Amino acid sequence: MISPGELIQLVSPQGKKYLMTVEAGKELHTHHGKIDISEVLEKDFGDEIKTHLGKVYHILKPTLYDLIKNIERKTQIIYPKDIGYILVRLGVGPGSKVVEAGCGSGSLTMSFAYMVGETGKVYSFDRREEFVSLCKKNLTKAGLESRVVLEVRDISEGFGFKSMDCGFLDVREPWLYVEQLAEVVKNGSVVGFLLPTTNQVTKLLEALEKGPFIDIDVVEIMLRRYKPIYERFRPDDRMVAHTGFLIFARIKNK
Ligand SMILES: C[S@@+](CC[C@H](N)C(=O)[O-])C[C@H]1O[C@@H](n2cnc3c(N)ncnc32)[C@H](O)[C@@H]1O
Repeated sequence: MISPGELIQLVSPQGKKYLMTVEAGKELHTHHGKIDISEVLEKDFGDEIKTHLGKVYHILKPTLYDLIKNIERKTQIIYPKDIGYILVRLGVGPGSKVVEAGCGSGSLTMSFAYMVGETGKVYSFDRREEFVSLCKKNLTKAGLESRVVLEVRDISEGFGFKSMDCGFLDVREPWLYVEQLAEVVKNGSVVGFLLPTTNQVTKLLEALEKGPFIDIDVVEIMLRRYKPIYERFRPDDRMVAHTGFLIFARIKNK
Protein backbone atom coordinates (compact mmCIF):
# COMPACT_ATOMS: atom_id res chain seq x y z
CA MET A 1 0.00 0.00 0.00
CA ILE A 2 1.10 3.56 -0.73
CA SER A 3 1.68 5.64 2.44
CA PRO A 4 0.90 9.29 3.24
CA GLY A 5 3.78 11.59 2.27
CA GLU A 6 5.04 9.22 -0.44
CA LEU A 7 5.94 10.63 -3.87
CA ILE A 8 3.79 9.33 -6.71
CA GLN A 9 3.35 9.99 -10.39
CA LEU A 10 -0.10 9.86 -12.00
CA VAL A 11 -0.11 9.17 -15.73
CA SER A 12 -3.06 10.17 -17.93
CA PRO A 13 -4.41 8.07 -20.83
CA GLN A 14 -2.33 10.29 -23.18
CA GLY A 15 0.85 9.91 -21.07
CA LYS A 16 0.73 13.31 -19.32
CA LYS A 17 2.50 12.96 -15.97
CA TYR A 18 1.66 14.57 -12.62
CA LEU A 19 4.21 14.28 -9.77
CA MET A 20 2.97 14.84 -6.20
CA THR A 21 3.10 13.70 -2.59
CA VAL A 22 0.15 11.74 -1.25
CA GLU A 23 -2.04 13.55 1.28
CA ALA A 24 -5.51 12.68 2.48
CA GLY A 25 -8.07 15.25 1.29
CA LYS A 26 -5.93 16.41 -1.67
CA GLU A 27 -7.51 16.63 -5.15
CA LEU A 28 -5.90 16.70 -8.60
CA HIS A 29 -7.83 18.63 -11.24
CA THR A 30 -7.23 17.37 -14.77
CA HIS A 31 -9.02 17.93 -18.07
CA HIS A 32 -10.45 14.42 -17.57
CA GLY A 33 -12.03 15.45 -14.25
CA LYS A 34 -11.04 15.36 -10.54
CA ILE A 35 -8.97 12.67 -8.81
CA ASP A 36 -9.39 12.19 -5.07
CA ILE A 37 -5.79 11.58 -3.90
CA SER A 38 -7.05 9.96 -0.63
CA GLU A 39 -8.02 6.96 -2.79
CA VAL A 40 -4.30 6.42 -3.61
CA LEU A 41 -3.83 5.34 0.04
CA GLU A 42 -5.83 2.17 -0.72
CA LYS A 43 -3.69 1.30 -3.74
CA ASP A 44 -0.25 0.03 -4.82
CA PHE A 45 2.16 1.25 -7.49
CA GLY A 46 1.03 0.09 -10.92
CA ASP A 47 -2.66 0.28 -9.95
CA GLU A 48 -5.29 2.32 -11.75
CA ILE A 49 -7.29 5.21 -10.35
CA LYS A 50 -10.33 6.86 -11.94
CA THR A 51 -11.28 10.52 -12.25
CA HIS A 52 -14.84 11.47 -11.22
CA LEU A 53 -15.64 11.24 -14.98
CA GLY A 54 -14.40 7.64 -15.13
CA LYS A 55 -11.11 8.21 -17.01
CA VAL A 56 -8.30 5.81 -16.01
CA TYR A 57 -4.96 7.10 -14.72
CA HIS A 58 -2.03 4.93 -13.60
CA ILE A 59 -0.16 5.34 -10.30
CA LEU A 60 3.62 4.96 -10.72
CA LYS A 61 6.63 5.36 -8.46
CA PRO A 62 8.78 8.24 -9.80
CA THR A 63 12.29 7.26 -10.84
CA LEU A 64 15.27 9.63 -10.70
CA TYR A 65 14.53 10.38 -14.38
CA ASP A 66 11.00 11.52 -13.46
CA LEU A 67 12.29 13.65 -10.57
CA ILE A 68 14.78 15.41 -12.88
CA LYS A 69 12.16 15.99 -15.58
CA ASN A 70 9.93 17.64 -12.98
CA ILE A 71 12.34 20.02 -11.30
CA GLU A 72 11.53 23.70 -11.26
CA ARG A 73 14.31 25.32 -13.29
CA LYS A 74 15.67 28.84 -13.52
CA THR A 75 19.08 27.88 -14.93
CA GLN A 76 20.26 25.60 -17.65
CA ILE A 77 20.19 22.10 -16.13
CA ILE A 78 22.13 18.91 -16.74
CA TYR A 79 19.93 16.31 -18.44
CA PRO A 80 19.55 12.58 -17.72
CA LYS A 81 21.60 11.54 -20.79
CA ASP A 82 24.65 13.36 -19.40
CA ILE A 83 23.89 12.64 -15.73
CA GLY A 84 23.94 8.87 -16.24
CA TYR A 85 27.43 9.01 -17.71
CA ILE A 86 28.68 11.51 -15.09
CA LEU A 87 27.56 9.25 -12.22
CA VAL A 88 29.30 6.23 -13.73
CA ARG A 89 32.52 8.08 -14.59
CA LEU A 90 32.79 9.68 -11.15
CA GLY A 91 32.02 6.35 -9.48
CA VAL A 92 29.25 7.80 -7.30
CA GLY A 93 27.46 5.21 -5.17
CA PRO A 94 26.16 4.55 -1.66
CA GLY A 95 28.38 6.27 0.92
CA SER A 96 30.20 8.56 -1.56
CA LYS A 97 31.21 12.08 -0.53
CA VAL A 98 30.74 14.35 -3.55
CA VAL A 99 31.58 18.04 -4.00
CA GLU A 100 29.99 20.17 -6.74
CA ALA A 101 29.39 23.73 -7.94
CA GLY A 102 27.22 25.48 -9.06
CA CYS A 103 24.09 23.80 -7.87
CA GLY A 104 21.90 25.92 -10.19
CA SER A 105 18.40 24.42 -10.21
CA GLY A 106 19.71 21.21 -8.63
CA SER A 107 19.31 18.63 -11.36
CA LEU A 108 22.78 17.14 -10.84
CA THR A 109 22.67 17.78 -7.07
CA MET A 110 19.47 15.73 -6.85
CA SER A 111 21.06 12.92 -8.85
CA PHE A 112 24.15 12.83 -6.64
CA ALA A 113 21.91 12.87 -3.53
CA TYR A 114 19.83 9.99 -4.90
CA MET A 115 22.94 7.88 -5.62
CA VAL A 116 24.93 8.50 -2.40
CA GLY A 117 22.10 7.05 -0.30
CA GLU A 118 21.60 7.54 3.43
CA THR A 119 25.29 7.08 4.24
CA GLY A 120 26.79 9.49 1.69
CA LYS A 121 26.88 13.28 1.46
CA VAL A 122 26.84 15.90 -1.27
CA TYR A 123 28.54 19.26 -0.66
CA SER A 124 27.12 21.76 -3.11
CA PHE A 125 27.80 25.46 -3.69
CA ASP A 126 26.44 28.32 -5.74
CA ARG A 127 27.38 31.97 -5.56
CA ARG A 128 23.76 33.04 -6.06
CA GLU A 129 21.41 32.75 -3.11
CA GLU A 130 18.32 32.40 -5.36
CA PHE A 131 19.73 29.21 -6.90
CA VAL A 132 20.71 27.72 -3.55
CA SER A 133 17.08 28.30 -2.41
CA LEU A 134 15.67 26.83 -5.61
CA CYS A 135 17.95 23.79 -5.36
CA LYS A 136 16.87 23.29 -1.74
CA LYS A 137 13.20 23.52 -2.75
CA ASN A 138 13.67 20.92 -5.49
CA LEU A 139 15.60 18.60 -3.13
CA THR A 140 12.91 18.94 -0.44
CA LYS A 141 10.17 18.07 -2.95
CA ALA A 142 12.09 14.89 -3.79
CA GLY A 143 12.73 14.08 -0.08
CA LEU A 144 16.53 14.22 -0.58
CA GLU A 145 17.50 17.42 1.27
CA SER A 146 19.07 15.66 4.29
CA ARG A 147 21.79 14.19 2.05
CA VAL A 148 23.05 17.59 0.85
CA VAL A 149 25.06 20.39 2.50
CA LEU A 150 24.13 23.48 0.47
CA GLU A 151 25.96 26.77 0.81
CA VAL A 152 25.97 30.18 -0.86
CA ARG A 153 29.62 30.53 -1.76
CA ASP A 154 31.73 31.72 -4.67
CA ILE A 155 34.17 28.85 -5.17
CA SER A 156 36.95 31.33 -5.88
CA GLU A 157 37.04 31.46 -2.03
CA GLY A 158 37.77 27.70 -2.00
CA PHE A 159 35.47 24.86 -1.00
CA GLY A 160 36.18 24.56 2.74
CA PHE A 161 36.08 20.73 2.74
CA LYS A 162 38.67 17.95 2.39
CA SER A 163 38.89 14.30 1.34
CA MET A 164 35.96 14.17 -1.07
CA ASP A 165 35.64 11.02 -3.21
CA CYS A 166 34.96 12.97 -6.40
CA GLY A 167 33.98 16.42 -7.68
CA PHE A 168 32.06 18.10 -10.48
CA LEU A 169 31.96 21.71 -11.73
CA ASP A 170 29.15 23.10 -13.87
CA VAL A 171 30.25 26.75 -13.87
CA ARG A 172 31.09 29.11 -16.72
CA GLU A 173 34.83 29.41 -16.03
CA PRO A 174 35.96 26.17 -14.33
CA TRP A 175 39.62 26.67 -15.37
CA LEU A 176 39.84 29.34 -12.64
CA TYR A 177 39.07 26.77 -9.91
CA VAL A 178 40.81 23.53 -10.91
CA GLU A 179 43.59 23.98 -8.32
CA GLN A 180 41.06 24.47 -5.49
CA LEU A 181 39.06 21.48 -6.72
CA ALA A 182 42.17 19.28 -6.74
CA GLU A 183 42.75 20.25 -3.08
CA VAL A 184 39.34 19.05 -1.82
CA VAL A 185 39.22 15.64 -3.49
CA LYS A 186 41.32 12.60 -2.59
CA ASN A 187 44.42 11.72 -4.59
CA GLY A 188 43.54 9.43 -7.48
CA SER A 189 39.87 10.41 -7.54
CA VAL A 190 37.88 11.57 -10.57
CA VAL A 191 36.72 15.12 -11.26
CA GLY A 192 34.40 16.19 -14.05
CA PHE A 193 33.13 19.30 -15.83
CA LEU A 194 30.32 20.19 -18.23
CA LEU A 195 30.89 22.97 -20.76
CA PRO A 196 28.67 23.99 -23.68
CA THR A 197 31.29 25.49 -26.04
CA THR A 198 34.57 24.28 -27.55
CA ASN A 199 36.30 27.56 -26.60
CA GLN A 200 35.62 26.80 -22.94
CA VAL A 201 36.84 23.22 -23.34
CA THR A 202 40.23 24.25 -24.74
CA LYS A 203 40.71 26.77 -21.91
CA LEU A 204 39.93 24.06 -19.37
CA LEU A 205 42.26 21.55 -21.07
CA GLU A 206 45.09 24.07 -20.86
CA ALA A 207 44.50 24.51 -17.11
CA LEU A 208 44.25 20.75 -16.52
CA GLU A 209 47.55 20.17 -18.40
CA LYS A 210 49.29 22.60 -16.05
CA GLY A 211 47.75 21.20 -12.85
CA PRO A 212 47.87 17.94 -10.85
CA PHE A 213 45.69 16.03 -13.33
CA ILE A 214 46.14 12.83 -15.35
CA ASP A 215 43.91 10.66 -17.54
CA ILE A 216 42.18 13.65 -19.16
CA ASP A 217 39.23 12.77 -21.38
CA VAL A 218 36.57 14.71 -23.33
CA VAL A 219 33.30 13.13 -24.52
CA GLU A 220 29.93 14.15 -25.82
CA ILE A 221 26.80 12.05 -25.31
CA MET A 222 24.26 11.87 -28.15
CA LEU A 223 20.72 10.66 -27.54
CA ARG A 224 18.28 9.93 -30.34
CA ARG A 225 14.65 9.15 -29.57
CA TYR A 226 12.44 6.86 -31.64
CA LYS A 227 8.69 6.77 -32.22
CA PRO A 228 7.59 3.58 -30.44
CA ILE A 229 5.05 2.56 -33.09
CA TYR A 230 5.63 -0.95 -34.39
CA GLU A 231 3.99 -0.46 -37.82
CA ARG A 232 6.26 2.48 -38.74
CA PHE A 233 9.17 2.44 -36.31
CA ARG A 234 11.54 5.36 -37.01
CA PRO A 235 13.49 8.17 -35.27
CA ASP A 236 11.71 11.27 -33.97
CA ASP A 237 11.81 14.15 -36.49
CA ARG A 238 13.56 16.49 -34.06
CA MET A 239 16.32 16.02 -31.52
CA VAL A 240 18.34 17.98 -29.00
CA ALA A 241 21.59 18.01 -30.91
CA HIS A 242 23.88 19.45 -28.26
CA THR A 243 23.83 19.97 -24.51
CA GLY A 244 27.49 20.10 -23.53
CA PHE A 245 30.91 18.50 -23.58
CA LEU A 246 31.90 16.37 -20.60
CA ILE A 247 35.50 16.57 -19.44
CA PHE A 248 36.99 14.15 -16.90
CA ALA A 249 40.38 13.85 -15.23
CA ARG A 250 42.01 12.12 -12.28
CA ILE A 251 43.97 13.80 -9.53
CA LYS A 252 47.59 12.74 -9.24
CA ASN A 253 49.46 12.73 -5.90
CA LYS A 254 49.83 16.32 -4.78
C1 LIG B 1 24.31 26.03 -15.44
S1 LIG B 1 24.09 26.39 -13.77
C2 LIG B 1 24.28 24.82 -12.98
C3 LIG B 1 23.14 23.89 -13.24
C4 LIG B 1 23.15 22.65 -12.39
N1 LIG B 1 24.33 21.84 -12.59
C5 LIG B 1 21.90 21.80 -12.64
O1 LIG B 1 22.04 20.66 -13.11
O2 LIG B 1 20.78 22.26 -12.34
C6 LIG B 1 25.60 27.19 -13.35
C7 LIG B 1 25.60 27.73 -11.94
O3 LIG B 1 26.94 28.01 -11.57
C8 LIG B 1 26.93 29.10 -10.66
N2 LIG B 1 28.29 29.64 -10.61
C9 LIG B 1 29.01 30.19 -11.63
N3 LIG B 1 30.23 30.56 -11.19
C10 LIG B 1 30.30 30.21 -9.87
C11 LIG B 1 31.29 30.35 -8.86
N4 LIG B 1 32.47 30.92 -9.12
N5 LIG B 1 31.03 29.90 -7.61
C12 LIG B 1 29.83 29.33 -7.32
N6 LIG B 1 28.83 29.19 -8.24
C13 LIG B 1 29.06 29.62 -9.49
C14 LIG B 1 25.87 30.02 -11.27
O4 LIG B 1 25.37 30.92 -10.29
C15 LIG B 1 24.83 29.03 -11.77
O5 LIG B 1 23.79 28.83 -10.85
